[in-house]
Amino acid sequence: MPERASSFCSKESNQMSKRIVGGAIVLGLAALAAGAGISFGAEGRTVWDGIYTEAQAARGQSVLTDQCVLCHGETMHGGGGVPSAVGPEFMFNWKDKSVAELFAYLKMMMPPTAPGSLSDQKYADVMAVLFKMNKFPASEGNEIPANPDALPDVRIVSDKP
Ligand code: HEC
Repeated sequence: MPERASSFCSKESNQMSKRIVGGAIVLGLAALAAGAGISFGAEGRTVWDGIYTEAQAARGQSVLTDQCVLCHGETMHGGGGVPSAVGPEFMFNWKDKSVAELFAYLKMMMPPTAPGSLSDQKYADVMAVLFKMNKFPASEGNEIPANPDALPDVRIVSDKP
């Protein structure tokens, strides 16, 4: 009987130690992920990191043609009281702001005749084509998300960091 009890115990403790090792690995991974998250945040992401895809910019182009070029012109350079959404004027107004702030602005202000009239997806897509026109690089797989709350804190900066 004591023998059985002890073998039972050692089996149990063996399982326990496996579980502890497993737990330690999970904790280790969590620490790694957290560490990676911290350094990622500290460096900060920018529009130079590839945040839209060519496909998204192509969708955005048709939104632009339908909803924006009437005032801003085909190249979005504006004129006649309408500001430019590309180049130095755009960068002067938007440098160091976040992509989420631009999203909020567009949704609240554009088009001025019917602000907020587009779907979140269309506002995200139209930002993709604006970033393309401003010569920020496309990515293979990252799209600007349609959910504004999920927009990562990505900064608009004129020069490649
Ligand atoms: C009816 C004309 C009109 C239409 C249509 C329009 N805009 Fe505008 N847009 C303006 C005006 C006017 C401003 C300046 C608003 C202000 O500063 O109060 C502006 C400002 C902007 C800015 C800020 C530019 C800067 O340099 O800060 C962006 C970006 C922009 N529009 C993008 C868009 C997009 C994208 C669309 C299509 C979804 C759009 N606009 C449709 C007239 C228009």
